[in-house]
Amino acid sequence: MSKPFIVEDPNLEYLEAARPEGRPQDAPAARPAPAEDFKVIGRRTPRIDGAKIVTGRARYTHDLHFDGLLHAKILRSPHAAAEVLSIDLSSALAYPGVKAALKLREGRVRWAGEQVAAVAATSEAAAEEALALVKVDYKVLPHVVDDLEAGRPDAPLVADQANLQPFNAFDRGEIDKGFAEAEVIIERAYRTNWEVHQPAETHASIAKWDGRVLTVWDSTQAVHSVRDALARVLQIPAADVRVVKHYMGGGFGSKLGLNDHTVVAARLAKETGRPVKITLTRQENSFCVGYRPSTRFTVRIGAKKDGTITALHMKNLNCGGVGRGDRCSEPFVDVYRIPHLKIEESSVFVNACGSRATRAPGHTQATLALEGAMEELAAALKMDPLQLRRKNYTAKSQGDTSLPYSLKRLEDCYKAGAEAIGWGRRNKAPGAGSGRYRRGMGMASQIWPGAGVPGTLAELRIHPDGTIEVECGTQDIGCGTRTHIAVVAAETLGFEPRDIVVKIGDSDYPWAPISGGSLTTPSVAPAIRDAALKAVDYLKGLASPKLGAPPEDLALGGKRVFVKAAPEKAVEWKELMKSIRRIAYFHGERAGHPSDTFAFQTFGAHFAEVEVDTRTGKIRVLKHVAAHDIGRVVNRQTAESQVIGGVTQGLSAALFEEKLMDPETGAMVNPNYHDYKVATALDVPEIVPLFIDVPDERLNNLGVKGLGEPPRIPSSAAVANAVFNALGVHVGEIPMTPPRVLAALKRKEAGR
Ligand code: MOS
Repeated sequence: MSKPFIVEDPNLEYLEAARPEGRPQDAPAARPAPAEDFKVIGRRTPRIDGAKIVTGRARYTHDLHFDGLLHAKILRSPHAAAEVLSIDLSSALAYPGVKAALKLREGRVRWAGEQVAAVAATSEAAAEEALALVKVDYKVLPHVVDDLEAGRPDAPLVADQANLQPFNAFDRGEIDKGFAEAEVIIERAYRTNWEVHQPAETHASIAKWDGRVLTVWDSTQAVHSVRDALARVLQIPAADVRVVKHYMGGGFGSKLGLNDHTVVAARLAKETGRPVKITLTRQENSFCVGYRPSTRFTVRIGAKKDGTITALHMKNLNCGGVGRGDRCSEPFVDVYRIPHLKIEESSVFVNACGSRATRAPGHTQATLALEGAMEELAAALKMDPLQLRRKNYTAKSQGDTSLPYSLKRLEDCYKAGAEAIGWGRRNKAPGAGSGRYRRGMGMASQIWPGAGVPGTLAELRIHPDGTIEVECGTQDIGCGTRTHIAVVAAETLGFEPRDIVVKIGDSDYPWAPISGGSLTTPSVAPAIRDAALKAVDYLKGLASPKLGAPPEDLALGGKRVFVKAAPEKAVEWKELMKSIRRIAYFHGERAGHPSDTFAFQTFGAHFAEVEVDTRTGKIRVLKHVAAHDIGRVVNRQTAESQVIGGVTQGLSAALFEEKLMDPETGAMVNPNYHDYKVATALDVPEIVPLFIDVPDERLNNLGVKGLGEPPRIPSSAAVANAVFNALGVHVGEIPMTPPRVLAALKRKEAGR
């Protein structure tokens, strides 16, 4: 079936990339060294570029300037549905300072904010003013922005097929049999709303042509993907395109693929022969570059009195504007032993910008519903919710029906997390407290692939003066990638991280995957390790005759190669490099992993404590413990930052964040930081990151997995469950705004 209208979000490719299955495999990875051998890896290493970032010397795409630079602005449809009958650029082109203008859309527009025309001028102000002179003749059509409205048979069609479409189905066992075996059955509804990525740095691109060669500086999570996509769209060879990204203020999935405005910049630059810059405003960033799609779950779950789950039936209606929403089945399929399982998901189209992958797409929404149902089932069984999770623990993937996990330390996460929060202090019966302020504790489990991508490349170079340089076409989206690369190279070569020169963020460098899907560290670190181990062998080989000792008796440290048994017998690197009189290159590659015999996942468990004001409906999170099993920790300091960020984002989604649409105009009503609420420092409690820190030896030469998304997955669910424990009623929807909390309390009073 052809669906030309649907934004087939290229970003969704990343979910496939995040799954190791189906990728070419080569030899299983070498066994990683034991932790006691490591001096730098696993330690707290401050960012090697931290001072540069906090003193404003790090250059973001917004900061870049070029001689002759033009600024472009995009005219966007004010209508959620319309026919663009004609566009007249003549007045805009005649405006002082304007160098070029483009028509971007004739025909149907399907959401308010869709690109219609663009203007490039010598200043941002001139471009903005000229934009107002573009004359567009629209034939306005009926629109729909509400997911339930859109599903009705008489709703305006968003495209040329029914708005409501089946999306995803999964069956295991026999669902009726499973419910027949159950002694306790509950059915609950959960809803998550549209959540905007809100990176601190808005999207930005600068395009510059030198003859047939195009260079683009882009605020992106994927220099290689943007390079390839630009070449495809512009129909030029990929070898003639270079994409550069030095520093970035976050992406969270909204900057995974090629953006429409980047193509506009390239076209305007071509037409004018000058570099062209486009930076999106905070407003544009709020309604033009995606959001987390919404969900409406119904979960029916049955269990024996001892807590053994017999059946689960999940239905979900998701909505991602003119695009597909998120598939939310995986946590239901994988996390617990559920012998009889039925999943039915559908998607409904509305007149809004297509959603985009947002930090752990599908998993965050699914976890709110699955873990909410677990907590409510535990209450119905009068059982400790942690005990219920343990009772249905799996050693194998697919709910214990498929491959064994290479390593699963979720039980350790449960233990460490429960102890750190003081799990014994929770209300044994939800809602047991009294008075205006009620406290409660909740938890949630997490899985996420995060295994990394075989074939990731890196190059390590040793210069004749003994300095080390590492080059990799990965990118730092704000997590500290330069530092983890330096840590791995320094560890292997006996240096300090600050001594390593790290070059990343350029599509001319060796291939690395998108920085998304929690792929960066488990893809890049093993490639760096591989290159560095080759350099070690090489240096030992050079030193061996000089020291009169076999290579296996040698070690590296302090920019010297020395004899292990007699460290005073040593030779300086500089001396060794002098003898070859040129730079030495070492190519590293991240090997394959045995995904035909083992399943690889990251695991985690969050525990939250909250206080709810039952008079105002306001929720305060008091403490949040996040325990994670991500294999070996490369840099404890940036790993902790990652967890603190993920918890904060989940707390923010649980309490505040919601993209609101005006049904009359079809436009977003809160596209700014004033009306779209994001958690501030005052909302963030004590967050305790805990790591199990055991290497997953089968996965790669360091035993590392990804951590980008895991801490976001169970964070809002744990907060919602803590509110349930405080009040004795689940709010059932995030964000848990005060009116929703008060409505839940009314439901409880009414016994519904
Ligand atoms: Mo992401 S949604 O892996 O940036």
